[in-house]
Amino acid sequence: MSNSAELQKTIDDMIDSERGILAADESTGTMTKRLEAVGVESTEENRRWYRSMLLSAPDVGKYICGVIFYEETLGQKDDNGTPLPELAASQGVIPGIKVDKGKGPLPGAPGDMITYGLDGLEERLDGYKAQGARFAKWREVYPITDHNPTRLGLTANAEMLARYAAACQAAGIVPIVEPEVLIDGDHSMYRAAEVNEQVWHSVFHALHQHGVVLEHMILKPSMVTPGKETGKASPEEVAEMTLKILRRTVPAAVPSVNFLSGGQTPEEATANLNALNHLRDKAPWHLSMSYGRALQEHAMKAWGGDTGNREKAQQAFLKRAKLNSMARQGLYQAQEEEAA
Ligand code: 13P
Repeated sequence: MSNSAELQKTIDDMIDSERGILAADESTGTMTKRLEAVGVESTEENRRWYRSMLLSAPDVGKYICGVIFYEETLGQKDDNGTPLPELAASQGVIPGIKVDKGKGPLPGAPGDMITYGLDGLEERLDGYKAQGARFAKWREVYPITDHNPTRLGLTANAEMLARYAAACQAAGIVPIVEPEVLIDGDHSMYRAAEVNEQVWHSVFHALHQHGVVLEHMILKPSMVTPGKETGKASPEEVAEMTLKILRRTVPAAVPSVNFLSGGQTPEEATANLNALNHLRDKAPWHLSMSYGRALQEHAMKAWGGDTGNREKAQQAFLKRAKLNSMARQGLYQAQEEEAA
């Protein structure tokens, strides 16, 4: 298969009108924080058990089309000795891999961040592909302050995303391009809209300069919301503003926009995705999710480190997966939170 045909096939297998992506790619540091919050020790075995429990949930492939793994998970096996990427594929869930190596301060731009991991990326991509990964994810992080992101922050982060995306496509791996504008702070929704517009504009400028084929990538943005300390906007307000800014900046050639949940509660993330899909006539792209916390939070609590809670945790996970699949079609009703 040609490189372009391979990328197109992955896009076709990953994008439909009902499903979304599970982000289960927390780095060991982040996973340790999440596990300790529910009273579980972050051992390699606990991480393996938990992630294989999610992927073996009955019919998970009805709601979830792809899963993003962390490097450690890509090499792990379930209790029957099946490699986790193979387990995912057997459920109709395409395995992918987070390939960035975390973030730090961007020198020369106080308050901005930059993500590491381009050195040696080509070789790593070949290795991940051999382990079953068909798509990848790279996250750049943009805190909002009165001064951030700076012009340098915008340019440098966009350049990283574009170089990563071009390297993925050269390796026959579909890139998920994730510019996460953080929800932290007391900024207004208008300030978040302004920043997201600058970010998305700069990212697509860089993708163009690096020759990234827009038809063969997925955008994973934040939704436009007020800062966490500011208060909430309604799902309708979030959807209106997010679409308005996306329409200004994201070419119609991009097949799918899969939002991150970024600190919204699971219920908010579902309601917001639903409201977005009520407006999908205004969107040339699919509007879906690539949620981490919003899909996993309840399941992780229900597990609490006790293997006897396996079914309870799977049901909690499937409930969120199903409700988000309904939201993805604009069919979610808040009262289903009780019923599902
Ligand atoms: P959240 O949905 O928890 O923000 O995670 C998505 C993700 O992959 C962040 O990089």
